[in-house]
Amino acid sequence: MSEYILVSVAWPYANADIHQGNVTGSYLPADIFARYHRLKGNHVLMVSGSDSHGTPVTVKADEMGLEVSEVFEHYHDRFLEVFSGMGLTYDLFTHTDTENHHKVSQDIFLKLKENEYLYTKVTKQMYSPAAGKFLPDRYVEGTCPNCGFERARGDQCDNCNTLFESAAELINPRSKLDDSDLEMRDTEHFFIDLPALAQDGLEEWIKSEDKAHWRPHVLNFTKNWILDEGLIGRAVTRDMDWGVKIPVEGFDTKVFYVWFEAVIGYLSASIEWAKNSGDPDAWKKWWYGDNARSFYFIGKDNIPFHTIFWPAQLLGTKGFDGSDETLNLPYDVPANQFMNMEGRKISGSQNWGVWMIDALERHDPDPLRYYLTAVMPETRDSDWTWAGYVTRNNKELVANWGNLANRTLKMIGKYFDGVVPDPGQLDERDTTLLNAIDEGFNTVGDFYDKAEFRNGLAESMRLSSLVNQYLDETAPWKSAKVDMAETGKSLYVVLQAISGLKTLFSPVLPFTAQSLHELLGEEGQLFGEQKVVEYQEETRSHKGMTYDGSAAIGTWARSEIPAGRQLPPAKPLFKKLDESVVEDEMSRLGPNDSA
Ligand code: MF3
Ligand code: ZN
Repeated sequence: MSEYILVSVAWPYANADIHQGNVTGSYLPADIFARYHRLKGNHVLMVSGSDSHGTPVTVKADEMGLEVSEVFEHYHDRFLEVFSGMGLTYDLFTHTDTENHHKVSQDIFLKLKENEYLYTKVTKQMYSPAAGKFLPDRYVEGTCPNCGFERARGDQCDNCNTLFESAAELINPRSKLDDSDLEMRDTEHFFIDLPALAQDGLEEWIKSEDKAHWRPHVLNFTKNWILDEGLIGRAVTRDMDWGVKIPVEGFDTKVFYVWFEAVIGYLSASIEWAKNSGDPDAWKKWWYGDNARSFYFIGKDNIPFHTIFWPAQLLGTKGFDGSDETLNLPYDVPANQFMNMEGRKISGSQNWGVWMIDALERHDPDPLRYYLTAVMPETRDSDWTWAGYVTRNNKELVANWGNLANRTLKMIGKYFDGVVPDPGQLDERDTTLLNAIDEGFNTVGDFYDKAEFRNGLAESMRLSSLVNQYLDETAPWKSAKVDMAETGKSLYVVLQAISGLKTLFSPVLPFTAQSLHELLGEEGQLFGEQKVVEYQEETRSHKGMTYDGSAAIGTWARSEIPAGRQLPPAKPLFKKLDESVVEDEMSRLGPNDSA
């Protein structure tokens, strides 16, 4: 029976360009997983969007001297370009400033309130008489009570690294905006009642045994977090004007805390997708019941928001949309660790990273996807090096998989005028090879099911080596001088194996899999089409990205290439990279004089 697989992908803050660490951290594993499940015949819904709210975006706008909406739209457009270029097949990539998202967030909030999981409390917050508003902690500067540093930020002292609960701890707090003096004022906020939710199922869910399939680092982090921080009430509103408004009288100058509403995006985007599809209730198949499982692809810095707060919000909104069911809690949160760059932390301000929008101008998406999967930080932090990229491209992708396909197709062209030869009777060596490839759909599939993409890719490469070995042993270029029947049989068998490998590699290498699909004389699309669309809501429109799988014909199995079929002329799938690429790319790193 086919399942409903919700692929929830982290929502990037629309305040910076996407780098390779973001891609390997969450977007690429999500896409591999989604493509794999589509091939398996499951119903996939892959959603995400730009996180347009919160201080990360407003701070950036202040720095750039632009309106917040200009900043987030600028980056949102660039995200769409990168995701199209990298072949990330979101069923919907939207953003959090849509009418739909505002509405769904408010509905969730009101349901939590009705179910009595919210309470209000008066807290103290820095107020700027000059600006006539409360200031987020990041906008406050003052003297550090711990080390005396005079320019400590409201949330953290950069001199001694002390973290502050509130900017109120600073001595002589000043506004970072205009250096004016600040005063402390009372302000009322909504809090989510985590202790109550802990009792009503959250604690039991976190501790339950059905998490054997979770990555140990995610589970340990979550359990330790609860021990260290405790399940205490957390404020879900802020004194800011950029964000989603609180639908309660007297709170009209406040907005939701960005993390409270960003995670709601998984649900609101599912609902938006359903509306666009013409069946507004369609999202429910991915959010209710046992036949639906949800996977959250995120970086490790986002773990508590997805393993504690979002489950709490879901548990507390029983009755949302009028049903009496609880929305499904995450089935798995396969968070990745971080990727470094040439041994150092990736950094925007130091121009230390691979900016995907720029890299895609010089590099094909599949080699990038290949390397990012081969060194994906699944269990520990990993490191991107340009030398590693070139080596793995040349020694693995080109020398192993690419050459196997290319030399086989070339020999069929040369010895059989491009017509798939008739194999005659297969012997044991032939069937053993093809059985190994068929068995690969189980072994590789098991890895992909478990979100172990490095292993899935390595297993595919191992099978490719096996086929290379068969080709070297049967040496059709030698037998062609004496026994064309032997030559034909060997090339036929290798061609069938390549047809299987094409599909095994396709979740990671979708572009070249499609090229090979055509070189094998196959028709149709392995996967569906992605497109960027302008969506019209009542008062506004927004750009997004969608995936149309209706034309896709791919299945998770080897398809037979029949003898007698005329193949098109051979063409290499990959390019060998010159060593000079390393130097060229390295010279683009670091502070840039012309910038
Ligand atoms: N915007 C956050 C970040 O870039 C991620 C949010 S994931 C969400 O770290 F789904 F929760 F929104
Ligand atoms: Zn300090």
